[in-house]
Amino acid sequence: MDFNDLKEWTTIKNDIIKIYKYTIPIHGTKRPEIGKGGKNYSWNYTKEHYWTEAFWPGQLWLAYDDTKDKIFLDAARVHIPAFMKMLETPKWLHHDVGFLFLMSSVSDYKTTGDLEAKKRALRAADILRSRFQWNGRYIQAWNTKPNNDEWNKIAVGKMIIDSMENIHLLYWASRVTGETAYQEIANEHALNMQKNIIREDGSTYHCFNFDPITGNPLGGSTHQGYSNESCWSRGQGWAIHGFAQAYLNSKNKSFLESAIFLADFVIDNISDDMVPIWDFKAPKTSPQIKDSSAGAIISAGILTISSILEELQDNRYKKYYKAGTDILRGLRKYCDITQIEGSQGLLNQGASHVNKGGYWTQAMLIYGDYYYYEAVLRALGKKDFVWTAGLEEK
Ligand code: GLY
Repeated sequence: MDFNDLKEWTTIKNDIIKIYKYTIPIHGTKRPEIGKGGKNYSWNYTKEHYWTEAFWPGQLWLAYDDTKDKIFLDAARVHIPAFMKMLETPKWLHHDVGFLFLMSSVSDYKTTGDLEAKKRALRAADILRSRFQWNGRYIQAWNTKPNNDEWNKIAVGKMIIDSMENIHLLYWASRVTGETAYQEIANEHALNMQKNIIREDGSTYHCFNFDPITGNPLGGSTHQGYSNESCWSRGQGWAIHGFAQAYLNSKNKSFLESAIFLADFVIDNISDDMVPIWDFKAPKTSPQIKDSSAGAIISAGILTISSILEELQDNRYKKYYKAGTDILRGLRKYCDITQIEGSQGLLNQGASHVNKGGYWTQAMLIYGDYYYYEAVLRALGKKDFVWTAGLEEK
């Protein structure tokens, strides 16, 4: 990395930290989810136990880890009661306990060694582990609902690509307890994803369905993408980032090769501005809506691949450093709102549940902001993030 690169990423980082310090008193005990839309750069706050709840505390923990400024530690800890309440309300818990408790409790334990945080995270890991369906060998994504047979048939038999991030809670739990069962389930799930959710051209299905009784594979489908056979770009990001971390956590080389295969699909299909549209296979005649959150996740994932390859003395690392930082520059140029007076967020131009319309496009998304910060820190050379917490000590 040359001096100019270093200056460029440090400037973005300083802009990010400035927004965090400005917004801590505004958010207080609330957790942002999605921007209000239009020229209003303030936030709507998240519903209780929604999958997005931990991305604000996650950014605060990352900022504390990065700066050691206690303002971030104190601001992160005000959210603890919300996460305790989740653990006390079993019907609220789903596979996203991974996101929720990695970014909150594992981040706390990783940064401060707090034993109560460790206990909360281990309770969440037990919940995630218990969702493993032994017949089909996958972690069930969503919960069943009372008196809804149609939904329940779908829910029990479904794994979704987003889970590639959740499984890192299991790898962490294995490391801190010495119990290999957590890690075995994470590996089984990732191998199943590898077999069924990755297509031959390096694109991905959002979801994959199994017969809930026999566990036999039924086929891929989508929930947020353009169509069952398209490629939802945030999902592609979850898989690139998730497989790269799964390699670090398991040392299974095939997970690294999967991450690279998926990254190559993005490199071959991304538009010249380096900001992904919401679905890589949406027809060119349809609105080319951007998703900055996909860009941020993909950038952080591809920069992980680059640092792994560099460590393995594999020269391909240069290609992925360039791709990861080109995407980061695209985000800075076209989506960064840190310079707008009164902005409470980092990125605009996010897209979620596009088919619902409204401000679900061109939106500030709290997870896009989290991964933007992570990507900037990766570009600056940081390697130890919550996804591989505890690995550095082994
Ligand atoms: N995990 C849900 C999403 O990416 O929208």
